[in-house]
Amino acid sequence: MAKKKTLTTGAGIPVGDNQNSITAGSRGPILIQDFHLLEKLAHFNRERIPERVVHAKGAGAYGYFEVTNDEIFKYTKADFLSKKGKQTEVFLRFSTVAGELGSADTVRDPRGFAVKFYTDEGNYDLVGNNTPIFFIRDTIKFPDFIHTQKRNPKTGLKDPNMVWDFWSLSPESLHQITYLHGDRGIPATYRHMNGYGSHTFKWVNDQGESFWVKYHFISDQGVKALDNDLAAELAGTNPDYHRQDLFTSIEEGDHPSWTLYVQIIPYEDYQTYKWDLFDVTKTVSKKDYPRIEVGKLVLNRNPENHFAEVEQSAFTPGNLVPGIEPSPDKMLQGRIFSYGDTHRYRLGVNHQQIPVNRAKVEVNNMQRDGYMTVNGNGGGKPNYEPNSLDGPVEDPHKKIAPFEVSGEADSVAYDSDDHYTQARDLYRLMSEDERERLIKNFADHMRPVESDEIKLRQIGHFYKADPEWAERVAEQLGLRIPESVK
Ligand code: HEM
Repeated sequence: MAKKKTLTTGAGIPVGDNQNSITAGSRGPILIQDFHLLEKLAHFNRERIPERVVHAKGAGAYGYFEVTNDEIFKYTKADFLSKKGKQTEVFLRFSTVAGELGSADTVRDPRGFAVKFYTDEGNYDLVGNNTPIFFIRDTIKFPDFIHTQKRNPKTGLKDPNMVWDFWSLSPESLHQITYLHGDRGIPATYRHMNGYGSHTFKWVNDQGESFWVKYHFISDQGVKALDNDLAAELAGTNPDYHRQDLFTSIEEGDHPSWTLYVQIIPYEDYQTYKWDLFDVTKTVSKKDYPRIEVGKLVLNRNPENHFAEVEQSAFTPGNLVPGIEPSPDKMLQGRIFSYGDTHRYRLGVNHQQIPVNRAKVEVNNMQRDGYMTVNGNGGGKPNYEPNSLDGPVEDPHKKIAPFEVSGEADSVAYDSDDHYTQARDLYRLMSEDERERLIKNFADHMRPVESDEIKLRQIGHFYKADPEWAERVAEQLGLRIPESVK
């Protein structure tokens, strides 16, 4: 048998005894000279880092993205999409949104679908969800919204009063909460759900032409939901059900995949399209802008270490490669700040040096020092620019496409308040069975709300979408709908 390796301290010093502290005799107090013991306790005490403020519980895996369409370069100069057959390594993290790090996987909640493409032009992060829309459409509401999804500050309990108070006062949430309380609200597994970029993004080709784009990752496994009762049972018996499913499938060679499609929207159409393209509570019709296939994403490798790779992974909508730019979406714009900021808090200022986050290409910048610099810190290379020392220089070809902006600076609301048409369309698209489940899910979730005023305010929104929908929820809650909320 091969000789076992010797146990060491963090400094690599062989450990002589890992079972007995150094004490004065068999009963004696511990000597402070037991450095191995001190280091062991001290490191253990620092094992926890802040969990993600949202999307804390998740699972991740590596794989690749392969372009299957030779025509995509017409819309974007992004190198990783430049030709059919081009492969790019990816890391994908799935997550629930509201629960803590140890929370159950099978709850009703949107799921995160965050992809890191390690491209030849640096890392491109597409930080999406399994829903094409979102609850709110202005960043300024995000912290309040998330407070309602987390715990009541007094009781420490999840609180439907807060949830429905906020939603009923934020009718832009109606479309997303309809999605959420429908069958897609609890996916069967992470493999059986789609992923969406949700926002509209901008693509720019090498002629400098801009297009708006919507991303759709469609599951090749099909979309499947979990039945409510089974989900509740699994939350108790196997809270890591989705994490386990992903890990086991990949380990057994059953590699999940998604086909990426995009909707391409001509640049000028943002002026005339019937919906505001930059309102993330709305979808863009596939009839108006059909999906175009782009490529295939396959997950084929599990991380070696969950903490190092999944917990320390850091995605930001700010990581965009040349040819892909933000739209003016007020949510997306705020996200561009928020993620890097939380990474600096959660992982430190040098989180981009952590292997899972590290670009596969050479990184040349003037960032130096800070906690946990482990990449050589630029060695003796110049740490300022411009310089006459042959240091890296900017490339004007990689500048963003210039665009016009207009309007008076103010705290300005969106100019459309139609929160009902798309929610109604979604409701009416459902089969009678689906609607029955939807109504029951709404009623079950709203029943514990103490105030009838909140319940009726929400029912008023259902009413504006479809009176039948409102009547059915009201009936299950034993309420009559007053004229005032219709
Ligand atoms: C995670 C902020 C909206 C998808 C996070 C995190 C923050 C955050 C601070 C934790 C990141 C980390 O610790 O690494 C915000 C803000 C939003 C917003 C301020 C609105 C203005 C959205 C939307 C989507 C989304 C609209 C999807 C379309 C995600 C995903 C993660 C995440 C997938 C988890 C990323 C991972 O797996 O590490 N968000 N978020 N977020 N967010 Fe958002």
